[in-house]
Amino acid sequence: MLSLPLTDDAELRALEPWQAPEFAAHVAAAREHLMEWLPWGTSAASDEGAAQLLQRYADAQARGEGRILGIWVGGKLMGGVLFRVWEQSRGMCELGVWLAPEAVGRGLVTRASRVMIEWAFRERGIHRVEWRCATGNARSSAVARRLGMTREGVLREAFPLHGVRHDVELWAILASEWPTRR
Ligand SMILES: CC(C)(COP(=O)(O)OP(=O)(O)OC[C@H]1O[C@@H](n2cnc3c(N)ncnc32)[C@H](O)[C@@H]1OP(=O)(O)O)[C@@H](O)C(=O)NCCC(=O)NCCS
Repeated sequence: MLSLPLTDDAELRALEPWQAPEFAAHVAAAREHLMEWLPWGTSAASDEGAAQLLQRYADAQARGEGRILGIWVGGKLMGGVLFRVWEQSRGMCELGVWLAPEAVGRGLVTRASRVMIEWAFRERGIHRVEWRCATGNARSSAVARRLGMTREGVLREAFPLHGVRHDVELWAILASEWPTRR
């Protein structure tokens, strides 16, 4: 299995449609934590919903327009990183992340995000990596800050979730900033 070590016991690996049952079980176990900020925190908790989400990313990856990787800790799927949006012609993409609550606070997502950003800039020639999070999602904005991103503004009431519209912080880092800020 192709894998990239993040720490002594954590690794970053491809997350593919055949792993839907494992992904669904992970999302179901972390549902309360994930659904607070992720639209798929509920839908991907079933085998069918997980398979649909992973297939969407597999199709996007085949077109060169997206990617999802999982973070395994001690052999158990505990989170991941993904390119939710990929616009090669405009040189832009958007990174997203999640973790099971037990895996929070160890720097796993910051490490995995660095791998993703490095790949986007160096291998794919992307110019700008974006990060969007609800203004109330302090842990998410802390990751963007830790990655050296700039908070560029707030998209007012841009994110409807469970019947509430949240303001969204837009963060980004440019390829020219990456070597110095990483
Ligand atoms: C967003 C989310 C992934 C952030 O998780 P996180 O664990 O805070 O982020 P990281 O993995 O980067 O870890 C950072 C924490 O590990 C600590 N840490 C330890 N070693 C570290 C290292 N080598 N490098 C960076 N941070 C390290 C940091 O101090 C920080 O802890 P603190 O906030 O208590 O100070 C998590 O809160 C989550 O899954 N939320 C629900 C889903 C979600 O909101 N997704 C984003 C939608 S926009």
